[in-house]
Amino acid sequence: MNRFFITGGAGFIGSAFVRLLLEERPSCNVTNFDALTYAGNMDNLEGLDKTRHQLVQGDVAARDSVLAALESGTDAIINFAAESHVDRSILSADEFLRTNILGTQVLLDAARECGVRRFLQVSTDEVLGSLPEDETAYFTENSAFAPNSPYAASKAAAEHLVRAAHHTFGLDTVVTRCGNNYGPRQFPEKFLPLALSNAMNDEPIPLYGDGQNVRDWIYVMDHCRAILLALRQGHAGAVYNIGARNEHRNIEVAESLLDALGKPRSLIRFVKDRLGHDRRYAIDPSRAESELGWRPLETWESGLRKTIAWYQENSRWIERARSGAYRDYYKQQYGTEVGAA
Ligand code: NAD
Ligand code: TYD
Repeated sequence: MNRFFITGGAGFIGSAFVRLLLEERPSCNVTNFDALTYAGNMDNLEGLDKTRHQLVQGDVAARDSVLAALESGTDAIINFAAESHVDRSILSADEFLRTNILGTQVLLDAARECGVRRFLQVSTDEVLGSLPEDETAYFTENSAFAPNSPYAASKAAAEHLVRAAHHTFGLDTVVTRCGNNYGPRQFPEKFLPLALSNAMNDEPIPLYGDGQNVRDWIYVMDHCRAILLALRQGHAGAVYNIGARNEHRNIEVAESLLDALGKPRSLIRFVKDRLGHDRRYAIDPSRAESELGWRPLETWESGLRKTIAWYQENSRWIERARSGAYRDYYKQQYGTEVGAA
């Protein structure tokens, strides 16, 4: 495979994947199709080889734009494009349905029409709902779908459409389902970069509910390496759960960040809980380990160190991400201004 059509490649995970691909495959060519929404960021593409990477601004739900950008001879579509934030989906679900569901169907149709060899859907463990706190329960590839937020429901619908395209039309598809990513270039609406950028500025970290919800954290490049392996070696029609066996309660994440920055734990503020807040996510990645030979390279400690260092060295990136429309969102979500003590 040499010619890739990547959607959402100006976002957090998509841009990390584009970087990895250009590094790992010196002869590959990447079309990066991204609508550049509030979450898409040209800064994320700085320094990429322009001769092998072309950004096309377009909407995955707009059939004509997708077909105009998708060249015949494309080997694989990797679909990262999504509205990706649970809290925003609670405020309004419309864009989630359009981009995540309709957009996926448009891409599947386009893949068939243009003879694309493989379609990889980047999905999430959230389609499987919430686990009990019992530490022996894990999500496997056979766990039942039980999405609890509009975001998760839209991603579950997208997965169903991918499955249907494989079953009905024989399209070669692969689905990867990952847990909570963290790392450089993550938009500060998500918990870890929000907590980190607030703490760096001596602003409070808002913790929903009792702060005891558990997430299974993975360093973004480890996720991207798993996607690359699934693309190359995954079975047609298969689903692969991706996780680093790295569960932490939200309060532990906040405390680790504050400790690493040398900031007081008194910056933690308990705030009103998220509606329908999933209690625990935990992934069993055995299939990816045995079939793809995948293992995470980063530990929680090394991944956090790299992430904190990146945010400390890229204060301009954070300032730009936290300006403009982000301030309106923050006020609506938290009832306080960005920067308020
Ligand atoms: P992100 O919000 O940082 O980036 C999304 C990108 O998609 C942005 O560049 C945005 O401009 C683009 N986009 C949005 N709507 C579009 C449209 N209609 N047409 C074209 N492009 C559009 O998201 P992320 O965190 O990088 O997540 C990428 C993918 O990975 C998503 O599909 C998400 O569901 C999935 N995922 C994310 C996580 C996580 O922890 N962040 C975990 C598991 C799976
Ligand atoms: P988030 O990064 O939104 O990812 P997801 O909801 O997809 O897991 O949130 C991670 C966890 O952090 C989740 O349990 C909600 C919690 N959270 C807070 O406590 N405060 C916040 O301000 C945010 C954004 C999230």
